[in-house]
Amino acid sequence: MEKTIAVIRGDGIGPEIVEQALRILRRVEARFGHRFTYEDVWMGGCAIDRYGSSLPDEMLEKARQADAVLLGAVGGPKWDGVSKENRPERGLLRLRAGLGLYANLRPAQIFPQLAAASPLREDIVARGIDFLIVRELTGGIYFGEHRTEEKDGETSATDVLSYSEKEIRRIARQGFEAARKRRHKLCSVDKANVLDSSRLWRKTVTEMAADYPDVEVSHMYVDNCAMQIVRNPAQFDVIVTENMFGDILSDEASMITGSIGMIPSASLGEGGRGMYEPIHGSAPDIAGQDIANPIGTILSAAMLLRYSLNLAQEADAVEAAVAAVLEEGWRTADICAPGAEPVGCMKMGELIAEHI
Ligand code: IPM
Ligand code: MG
Repeated sequence: MEKTIAVIRGDGIGPEIVEQALRILRRVEARFGHRFTYEDVWMGGCAIDRYGSSLPDEMLEKARQADAVLLGAVGGPKWDGVSKENRPERGLLRLRAGLGLYANLRPAQIFPQLAAASPLREDIVARGIDFLIVRELTGGIYFGEHRTEEKDGETSATDVLSYSEKEIRRIARQGFEAARKRRHKLCSVDKANVLDSSRLWRKTVTEMAADYPDVEVSHMYVDNCAMQIVRNPAQFDVIVTENMFGDILSDEASMITGSIGMIPSASLGEGGRGMYEPIHGSAPDIAGQDIANPIGTILSAAMLLRYSLNLAQEADAVEAAVAAVLEEGWRTADICAPGAEPVGCMKMGELIAEHI
């Protein structure tokens, strides 16, 4: 199979972790007889430095032409002074919108080998943590009007949270379909006791439930959900929610699995288009020290193989290699038990590649 993968290294630890994911993809090419072409795409702070824009138009176009996009992480204090229209994060949001990636899948799954790294009590972890957050990614408050204005010496700021029924339907469908491939349970998370957008959300999901009689649907307020994720995460199979709630809950969900450094994500649009990135940030404080955990990015590459290239066997092989390396006891600093000797980012990549 010949495919083109757009590669966005980004900022902070981005280039280091992406390098290890590329090592894994090259290994997959060799082992399974594929040919991938890698196209460098510049986005984020590094693109501001190089081109003066966090996402130059030609870079968006390059990403559009590729079969899939692999991304490290973007942003950092270096660009704090940049105008809001051109922040590194803005480049990421423009890329998501520009590629039409409205569905963000974020698995929260604990590797049994890492149970001790979870901040949750042992008996809670023992019940299992294996759920999927389906986050709406191109609507809601992230893409509503943002305005700061001054009137009579008083400054006020506004961000608009709006959803159309159509936007809710297409993301809810992703939630239902994902539940069908898993344990057939869907929890729709909203704030319908306060927000109109959430009331429309709940009404729409409730209507759609009739088309999925095999899926058990429940509704939960976002504040309660934040609590339930730490109280009894085993109750969840698939959570579907709007953009900002999904942003917040997915950070929480990743933490209970032991480390945010372990969690991959897939952002999907129509027709198999997809972008794959770890859910953690660019961690500028540890950049360039070879201590970052590349596993979130490597597992993102596995999702890329599975969802955009339809290479399930290859994706399985990458995931099995990660599990095997953890089983052997290798750990990066973020998941290392106190007193144990961690391996660096490169070494971790090398070990995983050897197992494929
Ligand atoms: C994420 C990040 C982004 C988001 C930021 C960097 C804009 O936190 O992917 O979760 O809020 O979506
Ligand atoms: Mg986030």
